[in-house]
Amino acid sequence: MTAMSNRRIPPSHEILDPIEVAGRDEIVALQTRRMKWSIEHAYGHVAHYRAKCKAIGVQPDDFKELADLAKFPFTTKSDLRETYPFGMFAVPMDKVVRVHASSGTTGKPTVVGYTQGDIDMWGHLVARSIRASGGRPGDKVHVAYGYGLFTGGLGAHYGAEKLGCTVIPMSGGQTERQVQLIVDFQPDIIMVTPSYMLAIADEMDRQGIDTRACSLKIGIFGAEPWTQAMREEIEQRMGMDAIDIYGLSEVIGPGVANECIETKDGPVVWEDHFYPEIIDPVTGAVLPDGEMGELVFTSLTKEALPVIRYRTRDLTRLLPGTSRSFRRMGKITGRSDDMLIIRGVNVFPTQIEELILKDARLSPHYQLEVTRDGHLDSLCVNVELRAEVPFDDTAAKAAARDLQHHIKSYIGVSTQVNVTAPGAIERSMGKAKRVVDLRPKG
Ligand code: DLL
Repeated sequence: MTAMSNRRIPPSHEILDPIEVAGRDEIVALQTRRMKWSIEHAYGHVAHYRAKCKAIGVQPDDFKELADLAKFPFTTKSDLRETYPFGMFAVPMDKVVRVHASSGTTGKPTVVGYTQGDIDMWGHLVARSIRASGGRPGDKVHVAYGYGLFTGGLGAHYGAEKLGCTVIPMSGGQTERQVQLIVDFQPDIIMVTPSYMLAIADEMDRQGIDTRACSLKIGIFGAEPWTQAMREEIEQRMGMDAIDIYGLSEVIGPGVANECIETKDGPVVWEDHFYPEIIDPVTGAVLPDGEMGELVFTSLTKEALPVIRYRTRDLTRLLPGTSRSFRRMGKITGRSDDMLIIRGVNVFPTQIEELILKDARLSPHYQLEVTRDGHLDSLCVNVELRAEVPFDDTAAKAAARDLQHHIKSYIGVSTQVNVTAPGAIERSMGKAKRVVDLRPKG
């Protein structure tokens, strides 16, 4: 736990939903009942999922208890692509009040749909997430997640309204304007990607605004992997509590899991609506709690787009509850798609981030470039020197040599490190692009 908590520590139990602090037996009973409904709903109304079940000879009656879930087929992004745009919806289109979509790196976007009931449930869970983060009715919430097809902006917005906050729907981009509104409107909370928070902080520095003195007391950060070292960096720099919010469009959007401000020990999975499993990404076998693997979710109450065993590609582990009865997930190490294999060594951008932030000379702005050198992949780490460190060739070379050495000794991979002047690395307005793949295609 980091030291920051400069704000009232919540929960007195009467403001929590009773299920957040219920006994495990009650939670399991609720999950079992809801999962039965969800499997029947998907099987009964989604031809594509029914065909997948029939192909392996399972049907809803085979589900009697939670352990039976493992008999059912996974759902993946390709199922959504194959049935593009609306083929996985389980309700008629006139019951779908909203769609969102994620662009995806290849081909067609993934489209997700919501009934009014889904929108209400989602708002409720984002409100619960903001409350777990330390937010209270009456707080002003600056939303700098993008509005539009991305679930971040509108997801945060509806949740903040539901909690009784005042929402400032700024969306992403226009960084100077972000700063102006933060200074003028004095929000208590900001909801934004951690990388864009840093870009906003840089702009505050540029304008000579004291970041630690600004009104923001809580940041609710997600939509991309970020490390404990990044949490410390942001907390120190902004004088705020930095809280992790997790989610993905296919499951609902932001608010599938959220950290509690009093423990900051990994997002609590809102298990009354989303049932988590960890599987071996290669064999698909379910792994026990505590073991690292791929996170899989089954929606328990979603109407328009029920997902049964949706493979997130996110790598983490499940941990026992602490401040709530629900299980927690460890901070996401990365997505299996983001894992680089450099000369046989597996590397995640978050591992490099940890090492960069251990060096007081280096800034948290970095990008990795993968190139192909004959048959082998090589990795180049581009990172900026901090603005307060005088930039010259000798200083840059010394910092580069040290980082290269640390990466080799902690991760075991040889890299080329390029330390640049501040501002040289492209800033993103939303999810940071940590890896630039320069390998020949195909
Ligand atoms: O990023 C939803 C979201 C918006 C979550 C705002 C939190 C805040 P997608 O665009 O579908 O949805 O991307 C989902 O982003 O599978 C993870 O790989 C990554 N991700 C989301 N939250 C976190 C987090 C939104 N807290 C994908 N830590 C997920 C690490 C995260 N990765």
